[in-house]
Amino acid sequence: MAKTRITAFYCKECGCETSKWAGQCPACHAWNSLVEEPKRDRKVHTDRYDVLAGQNGPVPIRDVSSEEEYRIEVDSKELNRVLGGGIVPGSLVLIGGDPGIGKSTLLMQTCAGLAQSGRKILYISGEESLRQIKMRADRLGTDCGSVCLLCETNLDRIGEVIREFKPDVAVVDSIQTVYREDIASSPGNIAQVRECTNFLMALAKGLSISIFLVGHVDKEGNIAGPKVMEHMVDTVLYFEGERSASYRVLRAVKNRFGSTDEIGVFEMTQKGLRSVENPSQYMLSGRPHGVSGSVVSCCMEGTRPMLLELQALASRSSFGNARRSTNGVDYNRMNMLLAVLDRNVSLPTAMSECDVYVNITGGIKVAEPAMDLGLVAAVISSAQKLVIDEKTVVFGEVGLTGEVRGVSQTAQRINEAAKLGFNRVIMPRVSLEGVDIPKSSIKCIGVDGIAELVVALLGAKA
Ligand code: TYD
Ligand code: MG
Repeated sequence: MAKTRITAFYCKECGCETSKWAGQCPACHAWNSLVEEPKRDRKVHTDRYDVLAGQNGPVPIRDVSSEEEYRIEVDSKELNRVLGGGIVPGSLVLIGGDPGIGKSTLLMQTCAGLAQSGRKILYISGEESLRQIKMRADRLGTDCGSVCLLCETNLDRIGEVIREFKPDVAVVDSIQTVYREDIASSPGNIAQVRECTNFLMALAKGLSISIFLVGHVDKEGNIAGPKVMEHMVDTVLYFEGERSASYRVLRAVKNRFGSTDEIGVFEMTQKGLRSVENPSQYMLSGRPHGVSGSVVSCCMEGTRPMLLELQALASRSSFGNARRSTNGVDYNRMNMLLAVLDRNVSLPTAMSECDVYVNITGGIKVAEPAMDLGLVAAVISSAQKLVIDEKTVVFGEVGLTGEVRGVSQTAQRINEAAKLGFNRVIMPRVSLEGVDIPKSSIKCIGVDGIAELVVALLGAKA
């Protein structure tokens, strides 16, 4: 007798199952997150419990060995930093990113380095043929010869190969292409993605093999599939960057074995990805000289300071409604800063009557409030056609009353500016107290409010 296909609705966010569709998930209240899929067989969930197999009962915490977890170091300093010092054996790492951003390239390069140091590496691809992978490997200019390849999408078969081959590190490119036969939905559906991740998790923990999963992203830039997948894995990394620009940023959004503050900066070259060890220098290359509307600011990416060029263009609006556009900066934050600027500084044309465009060059996105003062300085510079001396760095947070508030890690920011040859820093006055100013000839000017900023900028006129 033919089996009827019974379907149910599953929430992409929390995995909750309901028999009827609704606009909002009854469990987690996410909107528009229910999708119809064949009803799951309960028995497929059993793998989940394999992860902790071998642990017998409760253990007092003092008896648990506190030795530093052993890590497998990879060639790339940047990837090591983002992973928290290397790959933890038995960990499951998910790397998401836009198509063509370089996920497969990054992993192939990592695998090549590991294979050269004598590790057993298995690269499983469900997206490309052996020849295509070899073509990429040939471009990389590094010896990928000992990396073993497998083109397979059937997860049971992948499991068998991994158990037999016992690699130190395996890559599954991508999780959306693999499938389990006992689940009726097609590859990439939430049930498949969830159960496949579960299976690989059990495998990684059980055999102490580190597994990297490549994940596709959806329209909004989130990893496609259920949110629970991100909860299951140990580390979630996002590989970001403008397709048109050659730099790429690898960012950890979750890391059970390290900090999520660190970023890795790479450059895509003809021979694969190259680590960028001095991002400030890289971000500032190609700066225009002697123009208004450009200023250098300093943001912190984890423990690393990074100098960036902020650009603004303010011109009188020809329509009733002033246009605003931001690139790399939060739009609402920018609107707020423009309103604060209007209230506190008298400019040739009020900002409410100006079209304002703001850009962080290099295509990087920054959400740190310490960029506020730099943004305000760039807008003032553009509105007043004031060219700011190119050896000046401006940073600080701006509050609603126009006050300039302190920021953290001031000393690191000043040091980075001094290291790159800047000789003047305009910063919050409160942050100046107790800061060790480097021996070099850098001059730090503290400001309390944005009205004072204008005076400081006039002093820093080119
Ligand atoms: P790829 O790793 O295939 O991207 P993903 O797996 O994230 O989809 O990288 C694809 C892009 O990188 C492709 O557009 C070509 C470019 N690329 C280089 O510029 N140099 C190189 O050496 C390689 C291998 C790729
Ligand atoms: Mg790929």
